[in-house]
Amino acid sequence: MKERTLAIIKPDGVSRNLVGEVIRRIEGEGIRISAAKMIRMDKDQAKGFYQVHEGKPFFESVTDFMSSGPCLVMVLEGDDVIGRYRKLIGATDYKRADEGTIRRDFATDIEKNIVHGSDSVENAKFEIKYFFSELEIF
Ligand code: TYD
Ligand code: MG
Repeated sequence: MKERTLAIIKPDGVSRNLVGEVIRRIEGEGIRISAAKMIRMDKDQAKGFYQVHEGKPFFESVTDFMSSGPCLVMVLEGDDVIGRYRKLIGATDYKRADEGTIRRDFATDIEKNIVHGSDSVENAKFEIKYFFSELEIF
């Protein structure tokens, strides 16, 4: 089924010059980038983005991190792209991520894990709308 997902190259990925490497892997999977822009979230915007995690022990820290520098936010499109992109990025904790995944290869920390990917159709819709208008998605 054709889906959309929200991908983010997080502040650690941008500051470590991993933008090209992440995009190469996405396009190499035959996944199409239908929107992309660089943004910097402020603390409140990061809290809004991660509102499903409000109250969890890592919430303050992860929202500080996500607002610490620019991110590249993208909409990806393709058949079953939500699951396929999650597979490409690997488990949240890079130590548990499969070999050859983006997080296993580049993450340095459970928090500083280079990339974000939506985990469901419903969350993808919310997350895409959080950053993009329909006019910005091609
Ligand atoms: P989560 O949505 O569970 O992971 P994923 O990014 O794989 O969908 O958590 C969101 C982010 O919060 C995660 O990418 C990194 C951070 N985080 C921590 O810092 N510590 C943790 O224990 C968890 C679960 C997440
Ligand atoms: Mg998540």
